[in-house]
Amino acid sequence: MSAFITEETSSLEEIYEDSVRYADLLVEHKGIVFKDLSPHFMEQIRIMELLYQGDDTNPREGTIFDEDHRILYKGNELNGIPFVDGMTPEGSKHNWHSDFPFSPEPPSLTSMHMKKFDVPKGAGRTWLLDLEMFYHLLPDDLKEWLEGDIYFDHRTGNYSDPAGRDNTGNHKTNDPTGNHFGEEAGSYHRALRTHPVSKRTSVFFSGISMTLANFENPNIPYTPQGTPDDSQFKKLWEFMVYDVMKAFDPDHPCLYVREWEEGDLFIWDNRNLMHTFEGGWALGSRIFDKVEYGHEKPYYGSPN
Ligand SMILES: [Fe+2]
Repeated sequence: MSAFITEETSSLEEIYEDSVRYADLLVEHKGIVFKDLSPHFMEQIRIMELLYQGDDTNPREGTIFDEDHRILYKGNELNGIPFVDGMTPEGSKHNWHSDFPFSPEPPSLTSMHMKKFDVPKGAGRTWLLDLEMFYHLLPDDLKEWLEGDIYFDHRTGNYSDPAGRDNTGNHKTNDPTGNHFGEEAGSYHRALRTHPVSKRTSVFFSGISMTLANFENPNIPYTPQGTPDDSQFKKLWEFMVYDVMKAFDPDHPCLYVREWEEGDLFIWDNRNLMHTFEGGWALGSRIFDKVEYGHEKPYYGSPN
């Protein structure tokens, strides 16, 4: 079992009274599971408020209640793969990501309170990937390359307006009718990221569609495998995708898997972790409240 993510059996009163300790635990472990807490959504927001540490001086919450990820499944299919016996497909688990990496200020913390979990044993688990450990394990030549002036482009292409693919700095929000989750154009981030509290370094990797920033020609984003003359990016991408993202091994030092039970509240750091979840459950059988907290402009070194 990986060393990151801690599991606690605490009451609401204990969390409120000892919130400084839990806030530090959250930074240290990057995630906390509060077993069987069953918070009301106002209590979930309050816990996020108490446990958040970071650079956002006016932090706000982002909330989704009674969510079952239906939005990710168009009808009863995922990317053309139909549900079998009404169950969400196994392929769901390959959608590793961090939340809103394409935003100029992505959310700092995220949390899920699993309110209903009527799911077959071993299905519907959530995986976390430690981007600090990933950095730590990289060979020196890749670390050196990342130290350079390297930026990543976190746009996924899941938006409908090709004209939005520029880098004017206007952060044009695209047509909200498409399945792009408020994706904004022109949001490049430095490849390395410093955690504002622990000061530890992570690789700001956000999924398989992430590319090197194409400052030469911002209207034509690179494809992950099509980045010209950069063997280092390809090497990094292959380490991440083949050695970590596809491993699904709970003993891998970069990976953690959560077997959910109803009532669990799982809070994790969206600044240094990626996540994904498994299929194998019916829409409506896995329902959670989600609360994000704090939004920060990523940086490496010191904030400017
Ligand atoms: Fe997510």
